Amino acid sequence: MPPGEERELITNQLDALGAASAVAQGLRAAITSISKLQSSPASDENVIILAISDVEVSSDGKAQPPCYCGFLKYGFKSLYLHKKSGELVQCRPICLLDFYVDECVQRQGVGKSLFEHFLSLVSTRHHDHVPSPQHIAYDRPSPKLYPFLKKHYGLVNHDLSPYGFAVFPGFTF
Ligand SMILES: CC(C)(COP(=O)(O)OP(=O)(O)OC[C@H]1O[C@@H](n2cnc3c(N)ncnc32)[C@H](O)[C@@H]1OP(=O)(O)O)[C@@H](O)C(=O)NCCC(=O)NCCS
Repeated sequence: MPPGEERELITNQLDALGAASAVAQGLRAAITSISKLQSSPASDENVIILAISDVEVSSDGKAQPPCYCGFLKYGFKSLYLHKKSGELVQCRPICLLDFYVDECVQRQGVGKSLFEHFLSLVSTRHHDHVPSPQHIAYDRPSPKLYPFLKKHYGLVNHDLSPYGFAVFPGFTF
């Protein structure tokens, strides 16, 4: 596929997934789109990981254009978070900012595979960060994210900051 067409395909599909994520989470507007990504501050280092459905091959043997079925967006944010002691601490953790898998393929392991890719990408790109799920701050976690984190990573007993970020025991401030 020519690069221009591929870029357009990714733009359209990511924008659609971002809109669906907002609906699924009850947000008033999408927080993920190509234009938002392009206008985000470079210091936030926002990164999108896309999950691709199985590539279909047509009868003439050509691969069909890829179809994306989910995404995960992460970045760094300067946050004020409360410790258990009540102390307010400024920190700049890696944050899970948006995470969505198409309804028709949810609960089939796509989310886990995106999350594992996220952890491994963080460890490759940022050697100073230990990529453990408890070292991540979770932006506005949804009711589906809590069971997801409990099932796959044993995370329970979160603390929710007034700004909507959840952290779990083991988080380093
Ligand atoms: C959260 C989400 C990304 C997980 O993706 P996924 O592909 O379904 O995840 P996996 O298949 O790897 O893991 C499945 C586990 O996630 C949790 N989960 C997923 N969907 C759930 C649901 N409808 N109700 C409760 N738990 C759910 C469960 O722990 C589930 O395990 P189970 O099926 O054995 O109960 C996906 O459910 C989603 O897109 N939800 C809507 C958007 C959203 O809430 N995003 C989180 C933003 S913070």
